[in-house]
Amino acid sequence: MRIIHRKPWNLPERLVTPEDIFLNRRGFLAAAAIMAAGKAGAEEAKPDPRLAYYPAAVNPAFRDAGRAITAEEDNTTFNNFYEFGASKRIASLAQRLETVPWAMAIDGEVEKPFTIDFDDLMKKVALEMRVVRHRCVEAWAMVVPWTGFPLSQLVSLAKPTGEARYVRFETFHKPNMAPGQKASLFGDFPWPYVEGLTMEEAMNDLAFMVTGAYGKPLPKQMGAPIRLHCPWKYGFKSIKSVVRVSFTKDRPVSFWEQIGPGEYGFWANVNPEVAHPRWSQDEERMLGSEERFPTQLYNGYGEWVAHLYKDIKGEALFM
Ligand code: MTE
Repeated sequence: MRIIHRKPWNLPERLVTPEDIFLNRRGFLAAAAIMAAGKAGAEEAKPDPRLAYYPAAVNPAFRDAGRAITAEEDNTTFNNFYEFGASKRIASLAQRLETVPWAMAIDGEVEKPFTIDFDDLMKKVALEMRVVRHRCVEAWAMVVPWTGFPLSQLVSLAKPTGEARYVRFETFHKPNMAPGQKASLFGDFPWPYVEGLTMEEAMNDLAFMVTGAYGKPLPKQMGAPIRLHCPWKYGFKSIKSVVRVSFTKDRPVSFWEQIGPGEYGFWANVNPEVAHPRWSQDEERMLGSEERFPTQLYNGYGEWVAHLYKDIKGEALFM
């Protein structure tokens, strides 16, 4: 088994977890225990074993996103998850998502394709918490305390061959569970949801596989049990509920790129100077407040990622 060495800052969680998140977790655990105890009959309370991973230690490089953390209530009640419908108030419908068991296929240009159970994967990665900004292409923004692990850890478990140039991600395709995937709702939308990154982007420290938020396992409406987050790109790149990760020679064509190639591209890096064809991108509105901020190039993360694009010419890097 591959051992992932913990970073020196991976201290006991109680020493580093912001108090509000830690306390929140205790409240959550207490509430979960009460609910479980109140269950009908003599059925024994079975706490969710995935709770044991949270909260994880904060990576000090991402302790502060320069803005207040978006309230959990706002973040978990305003979501995009088209598999369940076009409304932002998708949280209750998304509870139909079955996340246990959850398997992820790793295939394509790898030494040996395999399928890994989500709970086994959790034992092979080093979890951390990161407080980062998230910017939707629709000009709303938020600050989220995610928990997860750098995508580079998954890439090294996958052992891609030298032929791999891109990483392609795929969400589940279960129309009976997710009504948005039925033709009656969105006509010929090209399900399943697909996204992609270059290998260089995937290996960048900012590319993050998310398994939790607010010091707890990821809620279903936010893409449980595992999603991507790329804070320098528009939010549609951050694919939810991933079931397949493929290493490819050819550039994947993403879900929204197939639907609207004139509006959504492969790169989708945040840039205030490149307007969406139907609206300006020069400022963003924080979820749950009327606060507005000027949009920043690469969502303010240029220090980490600008070098990835300096030699790319003639491509729409910002849509
Ligand atoms: N992933 C899937 N599978 N389905 C989706 O509809 N929406 C995307 C992205 N990932 C989406 C998805 C968009 S447009 C955004 S802005 C973010 O998820 C929203 O993430 P949030 O709901 O956690 O804020």
